[in-house]
Amino acid sequence: MLHRLARFDRPRTAATGVMQRVYDRAASGWQDGIAQLGFLAAYDHLMAQVDLARPAQRVLDVGTGTGAFATAWTAHHGQPKHLTLMDISPAMLDIAAARLPYADTQANALGDKVQTPPQDVVLCAHVIEHLDDPSLALTWLFDRLTPGGTLVLAMSRPHWCTALVRWRWGNAAYTPTQATQMLRAAGLQDITPHRFPGGPPARVSCGYTARRPL
Ligand SMILES: C[S@@+](CC[C@H](N)C(=O)[O-])C[C@H]1O[C@@H](n2cnc3c(N)ncnc32)[C@H](O)[C@@H]1O
Repeated sequence: MLHRLARFDRPRTAATGVMQRVYDRAASGWQDGIAQLGFLAAYDHLMAQVDLARPAQRVLDVGTGTGAFATAWTAHHGQPKHLTLMDISPAMLDIAAARLPYADTQANALGDKVQTPPQDVVLCAHVIEHLDDPSLALTWLFDRLTPGGTLVLAMSRPHWCTALVRWRWGNAAYTPTQATQMLRAAGLQDITPHRFPGGPPARVSCGYTARRPL
């Protein structure tokens, strides 16, 4: 299949280094900032809607930041046997590790050649829209999943409020229709957009669940 041929394991670009420094500087205020904007409640709402056929043993949070998405996961689905938190920002990873001390941390970029065992669940909130090629990034996430595994994603969507966020952070934004098409092109199925219930997250973002075919 085409999506299996378009591999994303490639050297990091200078932009990754810039991004790392930006998020290192933002790390100390990140958790309070997203809490005030309502993202913790939004992540909680999304995780409550994830329905798994069997408990997840291996969970990977890519671009974990302060670990908020992974924390919301564990609040609803329990502590997995193996939780891995991945980020390019050491400062973010330090905070995430302090909040989820039983987790492993990996200072890697989405797109790096990494030897991760197949994951039952891959989490990824507000990372794809920072990357040059979102489709290849989704293919890389697909490759981390075990057959039948679940991707839980949050991604910026277009709104005038998003323009303010984009001015500050330089990210892209995708409509749920565009996101669904990209997820399908990456090989995922059972793709469901989950609107956030209110506040800034409802305007600037959308949650998604999708499954890697068996
Ligand atoms: C907008 S923040 C989201 C953090 C967290 N997922 C949340 O929802 O609070 C983006 C995070 O992705 C990380 N990041 C950016 N580019 C990345 C990449 N290529 N690979 C892995 N992490 C990346 C940043 O360091 C930052 O922690």
